[in-house]
Amino acid sequence: PSSQCRYSYDEYKETADWLLAHTKQRPKVAIICGSGLGGLANLLDDKTVFPYTDIPRFPISTVPGHAGQLVFGRLKGRECVCMQGRFHFYEGYDIHTVTYPVRVFFLLGVETLIVTNAAGGLNGSYNVGDIMLIKDHINMPGFAGQNPLCGHNDNRFGVRFPCMSDAYDRGLRALAKQTAEEQGCDSFLQEGVYCMLAGPTYETIAECRVLQMLGADAVGMSTVPEVVVARHCGLRVLGLSLITNKVVTDYDSNSKANHEEVLRTTEHRTQDLQKLVSQLISKI
Ligand code: 6GU
Repeated sequence: PSSQCRYSYDEYKETADWLLAHTKQRPKVAIICGSGLGGLANLLDDKTVFPYTDIPRFPISTVPGHAGQLVFGRLKGRECVCMQGRFHFYEGYDIHTVTYPVRVFFLLGVETLIVTNAAGGLNGSYNVGDIMLIKDHINMPGFAGQNPLCGHNDNRFGVRFPCMSDAYDRGLRALAKQTAEEQGCDSFLQEGVYCMLAGPTYETIAECRVLQMLGADAVGMSTVPEVVVARHCGLRVLGLSLITNKVVTDYDSNSKANHEEVLRTTEHRTQDLQKLVSQLISKI
C-alpha cells in the first residue's frame, strides 16, 4: 500500500469480518486501555480473547506493560471490546497503523469509544493520582503533519474535513462526573485539555512551559490519533487521563520523569479508574 492511503477499506473489513465470524458478541462500546490500565479487561465476564498476533492484518504491540490482545466480554452486563495494549507512534508504527483498530471497531458496529491513558500533569493544581476527564485536545503531531486522516479520504468512514470542536462528548462527560460523585472519587476528578506529543522522550523544562502557555493541562504520548479517527467515523468519545506524575518546570528541581513512577501511580489508582469506567458503561 502507498503511504497516501496506507490501508484500504477492504483491509479493515477483512479484520472486522474475521472477528465477527469468531465471536457472537456485538459490542456497542470499545475501550482502549492505557499504560498500566489494562486490568479493566480482566473484569469482563464471558471473555473471548484474541491475541493481536492471531487477528488478520492487526498490528502487534511491543512495549512492556501492554499485553497485546483484544478482549470481548460483558462489563456490568454490557457487551464491550477492550484493547489490552495500544499502538504508539513512538514504537515506530506510522500514524495510520496506530489508529487501525478504531476503524475495525467502527466496522464491528461500535458506537462509543472510551480511551484511557497515563499522562503528566501540567496544570499546577493537579495532583498525582488525579483522574482528568478530557474536555479537548491539542494534536501536536497533527501540527507537524502527522494526522491519521492525511491521505485519500474514504467517504464510507467519514467526511474529508471533519469537525473536532465537539470531539469529547458532553453527555458522556456529564455521565462520568455524575458517576464519579456517586462513587466518591469526585475529590480527585479534574476536567482539562490533553496535549499529545510523539514521545518517547519526556518533555524538557522549556517544552513543559510552552505547553502550559498553550493551555494544556496534561501531556502524553497517545490517544489523540485514535480520537481523531473515531470522530471521523462518528463514534462518541470519552477520554480519561490518569495523572501519573507532575511535569518539571523548575530548573532547580531534582525530580525526573520516568516510566517506573508512571506505572507505580497507575497501580495505585487503577481500581478507581476501573470502577469508574465499569459503572459508567452500565449507564450508557
Ligand atoms: Cl510527563 N509526559 C508525557 N509525554 N507522557 C507522559 C508523562 C509525561 N507522564 C505519563 N505519560
